[in-house]
Amino acid sequence: MTNPYLEGNFAPVSTELTAIDLAVTGTIPPELDGSFLRNGPNPIAPQDEAAYHWFTGDGMVHGVRLREGNALWYRNRWVRSETVAAALDEPSHPGPVAQQGDFASNTNIVRIGPRLLACVEAGSRPYELTPLLDTVAPSDMAGTLPAGFTAHPHHDPVADEWHAVNYWWGWGENVQHVVIDKKGKVAHSRLIETTGGPMVHDLAMSERWIVVYDLPCDFDLQAAVAGERLPYHWMPDQPARFGLIDRTDLDGPVRWIDVDPCYVFHTLNAYDDGDTLVIDAVRWPKMFEGTGNGPIESGKPCLWRWTIDTAAGAAKDEQLRDVDEEFPRIDERLTGRRHRYGYGALNLTGSESSGRGGIVKHDLDRGTSEILDLGAGAGPNEFVFVPRAGSQAEDEGWLVGFTYVADTDTSDLVIVAADDLTGGPVARVHLPQRVPFGFHGNWIPAGR
Ligand SMILES: [Fe+2]
Repeated sequence: MTNPYLEGNFAPVSTELTAIDLAVTGTIPPELDGSFLRNGPNPIAPQDEAAYHWFTGDGMVHGVRLREGNALWYRNRWVRSETVAAALDEPSHPGPVAQQGDFASNTNIVRIGPRLLACVEAGSRPYELTPLLDTVAPSDMAGTLPAGFTAHPHHDPVADEWHAVNYWWGWGENVQHVVIDKKGKVAHSRLIETTGGPMVHDLAMSERWIVVYDLPCDFDLQAAVAGERLPYHWMPDQPARFGLIDRTDLDGPVRWIDVDPCYVFHTLNAYDDGDTLVIDAVRWPKMFEGTGNGPIESGKPCLWRWTIDTAAGAAKDEQLRDVDEEFPRIDERLTGRRHRYGYGALNLTGSESSGRGGIVKHDLDRGTSEILDLGAGAGPNEFVFVPRAGSQAEDEGWLVGFTYVADTDTSDLVIVAADDLTGGPVARVHLPQRVPFGFHGNWIPAGR
């Protein structure tokens, strides 16, 4: 048996490199002063082809530092969980490991308050890293994070606070909502009753509401007992609903809104329009039906919109685009506010391992989309929007992400002007090795 998540550019790399003064084609915008960091699974030990699930590989962060038009360095480092440190024959990094378990966080890397955190869901605490990607220790946010965390905390740019919905099978049919203040400490925590123990990968946030995705991909005890690496499965008999937490009454009743069965990994954004809540997200028709090694067999992910009448408690949904995409991002200065543009990682053929990769930009006001094709086998890779300092226009800035280059079996850091997508990359930073297809990244401005 072969496992597509161990082949091609999904396969892990075996070496940690540091390279300086990288070769560049094109011109790096001199305003870009910071690091692009991205996390993803990179199992350190040989894997059983049948058993390996893409979501379970040890985390490895890849980063590129840009300054004054130059690419100063590239680094890739495993997140040093106990397992990874032992495999590398290194001292461990003791810290407040959650009782729920220790795992080399593999899904996102986010700066929250004073800490750069490699994050994962399902019970493990995040790991704090240095700006050079060395592991500090697991973090409980200065003793305030009660248990595990999520890979998708959302920052409100006006309130300057973070919201997260965390899950762990040991909480039974509950998930946990936490609010983190600008100093990186949990200021509020609450369990929310769900149905069936759902895998809750992300949330949606508007100025008024936090939305809990209680969707029917649930913890499967039998699969866990049987030793399945990721014991969550499609359970269509369970309800599909969105839970609305009023941000002005965090401990108040949750309003549950029934929706048609589906699965959502990622929200593009959400916003309020009077009593109407609008949620744009990538919708999958189902997730993890039966056993498998990743999401490939779960249908075609496309951008949808849910329009919720919060007074009546009813939702309408509509498919916005018929494009195979994931990893949606916006200009995060608008998180929770009305957005016009959205960006997604494109997969032009619908096959994750052999498709052409690229970027899709949606203009949701005009109802149009533009595509930048980055080549055969190039994706899927998430691209992050970095605003030009002081810019007013929502798309005035750059899209930054990694792309696989099949011809050389390496990867580039690609920079595209977000307001001129079809003009192609303004710069390609050539990396000394490939960056395996992974999950999420962020731009960390210098000095943060
Ligand atoms: Fe994600």
